[in-house]
Amino acid sequence: MSDAKAIRYAVVGGGWISQAAFMPAVAQTGNSTITALVTGDPEKAASLGERYRLTTFSYDRYAEALASGLFDAVYLSLPNGMHREFAVPALEAGIHVLLEKPMATSVAECEAIIAAAERGNARLMLAYRLHFEPGTLDAIERVRTGAIGEPLVFTATFGQHVATENHRAHQGY
Ligand SMILES: NC(=O)c1ccc[n+]([C@@H]2O[C@H](COP(=O)([O-])OP(=O)(O)OC[C@H]3O[C@@H](n4cnc5c(N)ncnc54)[C@H](OP(=O)(O)O)[C@@H]3O)[C@@H](O)[C@H]2O)c1
Repeated sequence: MSDAKAIRYAVVGGGWISQAAFMPAVAQTGNSTITALVTGDPEKAASLGERYRLTTFSYDRYAEALASGLFDAVYLSLPNGMHREFAVPALEAGIHVLLEKPMATSVAECEAIIAAAERGNARLMLAYRLHFEPGTLDAIERVRTGAIGEPLVFTATFGQHVATENHRAHQGY
């Protein structure tokens, strides 16, 4: 698809998942491009802005970014507690939002985001990527066809190391 028809994204939050997964992958989609970056880090603005040829904005210029006409959608990968604050004005402005999971930190926040999408007639999608991965789809098919026999339900625990200075260790979510 030519750039003229591509969905133009602004990346909001230049953290790990943005830099390691989303930004390098967009070129492989065939239907999307990145045109802007909203970041609080001037060094990222310079380095990522140059690498991906982006117009960059700081968070205090978010309203200006949303009004710029530079993008059709935002990819929002801020800490979970900031999702509502940044998703709602984008959706109200009619800008689609691909929102990293988890959607927010409470049901009320989730409902506010959904209501903003309805008000702005904008599309809201959560980045629950596992639903679409080939391994997941294959496993679903194997369960449906009976290829693995009778499926059993079990529980497991998943954990990961978190540096003490990371925001996850300080905000209660
Ligand atoms: N779908 C998945 O598989 C998957 C995997 C990992 C994470 N996630 C989700 O993606 C989101 C971001 O996760 P991440 O691992 O990329 O986190 P991260 O590396 O900590 O990045 C978060 C970014 O948010 C920006 N930010 C703005 N205000 C901040 C504040 N007060 N404290 C910390 N960061 C702030 C920073 O970007 P700037 O410096 O550019 O401002 C920071 O780099 C979360 O919602 C997470 O749950 C999803």
